[in-house]
Amino acid sequence: MIKMKIKPFELERYFARYEFSAPYHLSSSDCEALSLKELLAMADEDTLQLWEELKLGYTESPGHPLLRKEISKLYQTIEPEQILVTVPEEGIFIAMNTLLGNGDHIISTFPAYQSLYEIACSMGCEISKWTPTNDIGWHFKIDDLKPLIRRNTKLIVINFPHNPTGAIISENELQELLMIARERNIIVFSDEMYRFLEYDSAHQTSSASDLYENAISLFGMSKSFALAGLRIGWLSTKNSDFLKSFAAYKDYTSICSSAPSEILAIIALRVKENILHRNLQLIAKNLKILDKFFAKYEDIFEWLRPQAGPIAFPKFKPQIDVADFCLNLVEKNGVMLLPSKVYDFKANYFRIGFARKNMPEALDQLEQYLQTHLRGSKRT
Ligand SMILES: Cc1ncc(COP(=O)(O)O)c(C=O)c1O
Repeated sequence: MIKMKIKPFELERYFARYEFSAPYHLSSSDCEALSLKELLAMADEDTLQLWEELKLGYTESPGHPLLRKEISKLYQTIEPEQILVTVPEEGIFIAMNTLLGNGDHIISTFPAYQSLYEIACSMGCEISKWTPTNDIGWHFKIDDLKPLIRRNTKLIVINFPHNPTGAIISENELQELLMIARERNIIVFSDEMYRFLEYDSAHQTSSASDLYENAISLFGMSKSFALAGLRIGWLSTKNSDFLKSFAAYKDYTSICSSAPSEILAIIALRVKENILHRNLQLIAKNLKILDKFFAKYEDIFEWLRPQAGPIAFPKFKPQIDVADFCLNLVEKNGVMLLPSKVYDFKANYFRIGFARKNMPEALDQLEQYLQTHLRGSKRT
């Protein structure tokens, strides 16, 4: 048996097992993918020409200049030169490897997309977990973060809108967090992969990289733009030393991005309002269905309604391990949910995703399973 230097990514391993075999995906965190045809139909004359005349060579390592220009429009003050295009997951890998070393202390929102803390863990860092309360939906309180800070805290990792709870942070809370970090000279890594998927646009916040010179923000095409297959994301930061080191590290990971993906990302960013509207509409429609479903089955589930994004993290009430429930469900009815154990989160919660077109059919299958196997079981 080969010993890996880093623990397996439990969520990705779980997906690897069922993603392409289970007929109903009820836990996916991306929005219903756009087809190439749909995307090209939205292209303007200039971008269509870029697409048709594209040469499939290596590309500019920091990212296509036009792509970085379009990306910079998503920020208040970030310039194209303050952006490095990477695969989203690669951006996390590069940043953690560049910024951290053995013995550093980091704080991370938890539960979390595993790489946000696991890469640091594999490097010998100590991790403190900033966990949310769920009295009225999930909420990360700044007062719970403060006592976690130590003298050797190097980095605070945040992720809002949050995977998996759909929790958000207010602009005031974000500013308070960044002020705390600035006072103590702590770097902030802000995973903003679900940005612009807030159900109420008044809940949108600034990007951390716009507000704090030692913040790095991560965003990309995978979630909000329904283009996960492009594998295009980016890091943005005002700290030019960080950016230089990230670019140098990228020479050892991907060197540069895929040429077709860059052009397709430019096309999508130029019509971002259309794509975001499409995704938010699908989410709103499916959320209504979920509200009804969870009201009907409140003896089995506690619906902790998210405030943003395509996923939620409800509680499973029966005295059955939620991991067993998820396994049986996928094996008997072909419906994939994600048990909280893939997040190393001990209590009985699961991730549900609702930005796929066939969510109602998947939910019907879940309902059939509940009617056959769970109605009348003992609740906690
Ligand atoms: C919070 C978060 N960050 C980063 C990523 C990585 O994105 P990608 O899979 O497109 O590399 C994901 C993917 O699920 C995510 O949920």
